[in-house]
Amino acid sequence: MLRKALMSAAASERVREAVMGTTATRAIVERYVAGESSEDAVAVARALRSAGLLVTLDYLGEDTTDAQRAAATAAQYVHLLGKLAAEGLTHGGPVEASVKATAVGLLLGANGDQDDADSRAPDTTAGFAIRRAAGGYGGSSPRETGVRIATEHLERIATAAADAGTTVTIDAEDHRTTDAALRIANSLRASFPSVGTVVQAALRRTEADVRDLAVPGTRVRLCKGAYAESISESFDARHDVDKSFARCLRVLMSGPGYPMIATHDPRLIAITRSLGLPRSPSSFEYQMLFGVRPDEQRRIAAAGAQVRVYVPYGGDWYPYLMRRLAERPSNLALFLRSLVSRG
Ligand code: FDA
Repeated sequence: MLRKALMSAAASERVREAVMGTTATRAIVERYVAGESSEDAVAVARALRSAGLLVTLDYLGEDTTDAQRAAATAAQYVHLLGKLAAEGLTHGGPVEASVKATAVGLLLGANGDQDDADSRAPDTTAGFAIRRAAGGYGGSSPRETGVRIATEHLERIATAAADAGTTVTIDAEDHRTTDAALRIANSLRASFPSVGTVVQAALRRTEADVRDLAVPGTRVRLCKGAYAESISESFDARHDVDKSFARCLRVLMSGPGYPMIATHDPRLIAITRSLGLPRSPSSFEYQMLFGVRPDEQRRIAAAGAQVRVYVPYGGDWYPYLMRRLAERPSNLALFLRSLVSRG
């Protein structure tokens, strides 16, 4: 209930302005976001590397409807990767980049304008509001132009990553982007074999997707899925999502690819350990979010496993923060109290 209430409220532009404009939000943002600048991102990456952790950096922003913004986002990644390389942080892949295809133009239409998401019939259901707030979009699938623009920008970023001795992982977003994101990753892998893909256990399609992806060398991040989706596309109950995660986990861990197990859930981490498969610690990694269970990140790494921390930075943190709050009811209560107490 609380989660739905937040996500519905978050869809409102007034709430967005109130949240982004208040200092009450700052402490919560600082917990989950490295800072606004590439210098902040590099500093956090350096500190995490010193603590024996791997890093993936995400320049915040998504659902871009402006061609210039998409190009600027790609340029930001190229700049960041150059900076990280100059600091000696990237060679061999200890620090890589995570990119959302919608941040680099996936939703752009034929003229570089927004895809037809805004011309759809208005949908006033709560589900629509939640999808919007969660960072999803209620419109149709990306067009070929958007796919082409996003692919070109991602190629630019993957080239900069390869020059820096590292790679890129393409995040998973709303289910309508899944086919396009998988297709883009697949096409990039022809030139950049280490480009990673993300799959969401919450989606019904994912078990079939991971079977296709469990091929030699493929880097696949498995997460639960942070987007509110319709029941036709996704499992509703948390335990069904967890069961799907466990099934996908087994497929990936038994396959010849490179699994990236992205969860903070102690039960799923224990299941990964208990699979008893003949895998060396260097043949897969755990991944967790910056600010979430940091002691556990260090504990697992100290025990000899590889742990990568997903570190977002940049000014456009609102949708990312809303997803993090929705995952954790106690955060949500704290956040709502801080908003109310500011008057
Ligand atoms: P679950 O939500 O059950 O949490 C397990 C425990 O972890 C909680 O009990 C709590 O202790 C702690 N926890 C979890 N979230 C917390 C939070 N926000 N604040 C504080 N504590 C928290 N999703 C997506 O759709 N596309 C993507 O590309 C990615 N990428 C990605 C990368 C990485 C490295 C991670 C770890 C996660 C993602 N996700 C994602 C997000 C993912 O889908 C999921 O929403 C979150 O990881 C929360 O799910 P858990 O598996 O942690 O389980």
